[in-house]
Amino acid sequence: MSRLVVVSNRLADPRKTASGGLAVALGQALQASGGLWFGWSGKVVEDGTPGEGDVHLQTAGPVQLATVDLSREDHDSYYLGYSNGVLWPVFHYRLDLADFDAGFIGGYRRVNQMFAHKLAALLRPDDVIWVHDYHLIPLAAELRNMGCQQRMGFFLHIPLPPPLILAAVPEHEWLMRSLFAYDLVGFQSEADVAHFSRYVGTETSADILGEHEFRAFGKTLQVQAFPIGIDVDEFTALGRGQEAIDMYEQMRDEYSRRRLLLGVERMDYSKGLPQRIKAFRQLLQNYPENLGSATLIQIAAPSRESVDAYAALRQELESLCGSVNGDFGELDWMPVRYIHRSVARKRLPGLYRAASVALVTPLRDGMNLVAKEFIAAQDPEDPGVLVLSRFAGAAEQMRDALLVNPYDTTRTAETMQRALQMPLEERQRRHRALLQQIREQDVHWWRQRFLNALNAV
Ligand code: ADP
Ligand code: G6P
Repeated sequence: MSRLVVVSNRLADPRKTASGGLAVALGQALQASGGLWFGWSGKVVEDGTPGEGDVHLQTAGPVQLATVDLSREDHDSYYLGYSNGVLWPVFHYRLDLADFDAGFIGGYRRVNQMFAHKLAALLRPDDVIWVHDYHLIPLAAELRNMGCQQRMGFFLHIPLPPPLILAAVPEHEWLMRSLFAYDLVGFQSEADVAHFSRYVGTETSADILGEHEFRAFGKTLQVQAFPIGIDVDEFTALGRGQEAIDMYEQMRDEYSRRRLLLGVERMDYSKGLPQRIKAFRQLLQNYPENLGSATLIQIAAPSRESVDAYAALRQELESLCGSVNGDFGELDWMPVRYIHRSVARKRLPGLYRAASVALVTPLRDGMNLVAKEFIAAQDPEDPGVLVLSRFAGAAEQMRDALLVNPYDTTRTAETMQRALQMPLEERQRRHRALLQQIREQDVHWWRQRFLNALNAV
């Protein structure tokens, strides 16, 4: 059996709790198959030389970890600058937030080259290499330049925007050509695959050989949607743990006379947080029976704080939460509980379970695993209701959620009210269907389908 080599910028850090969807899912997928996990150590060396970094080797169960430090300059240009200041906003349709500073691309190329060099030294001829996310699009091209002939697949965890948005990135042609160094490219949703196909059709002279097959730059590439899932059994087991039970009981006792609405994410402008608070304000305004009762717990974990757009979002969110509390709060009731921290993963299922309604309302999201975790954590006899943005990748699969357009504040408020009022029978029926869906297409299904497709190329 060939060894699986997974490459991603972020690895799961057991000391931290909110690592984002990619690290959570990959940690679970790798536990199942074993292999090598290669990526950034999370460490920044202040006076390090650009393009250089020490490699650290560690073993974690069946997984070998190989991580590389980044110099300050590389971190700021490759990670903060190009990955999170250009690719992240553009791929989430936010051209207004992109900083096309010409200096960033140099760091992005340099780190991809450095990763390729360090990784190549660890590779075996029959390894299967699976590269993840927007930080590492050109990695296969760099490995191929060095003569690596292994099977290579790429999975994009974030959306791929339509061609005319993508074309705003000055290096879009180079990025898209780099994808053809892989044997298989996977996206989260059919919408992303359609955007890829349209891009190739309009911006390149590639041949579209079939729905999933493209030929350009002397290479044939398979492209397909592989919607990522969660480990439902693991998450359900977590929910039976003492920490989750304690959390649930604590919330139930503290909010016994209230109805809880819950939002959990990284503090990111793609998550639609200001729009959500505005819709919650309308819920209180338009449906006064919720006054003194409906409480929104909003957990927004710190993320990428040295990127300007993130700092600005934090200020906006704090001001919106403050004004809702000021306008509607009572001595014994605060409508919004805003917490700028992460929740320990072991307690998370208890929090989800205590909520009557989950608000997963991103403006754009590759998938969104919180939506799936919320469903996995519910009591099937008395489940909470999922309000889900139609712009999350998860909306293609989770048709039994209450789907909303998060830009439409009035309708979102209306849907929050509908969720709070939903009869038990309808809640059970929707939850049953959603649970079945996330069970059928879980993280193991995702990994197996991707690897089967890669091995079949
Ligand atoms: P993203 O990958 O954009 O961060 P996802 O919803 O796909 O969004 O994945 C987020 C993952 O990180 C989930 O597993 C979720 O439980 C975890 N997470 C996100 N925010 C928090 C938080 N505030 N506290 C604890 N865990 C969090
Ligand atoms: C999203 C991205 C991941 C990233 C995660 C957390 O899930 O798709 O690649 O790891 O957010 O962001 P961070 O910048 O902390 O790695």
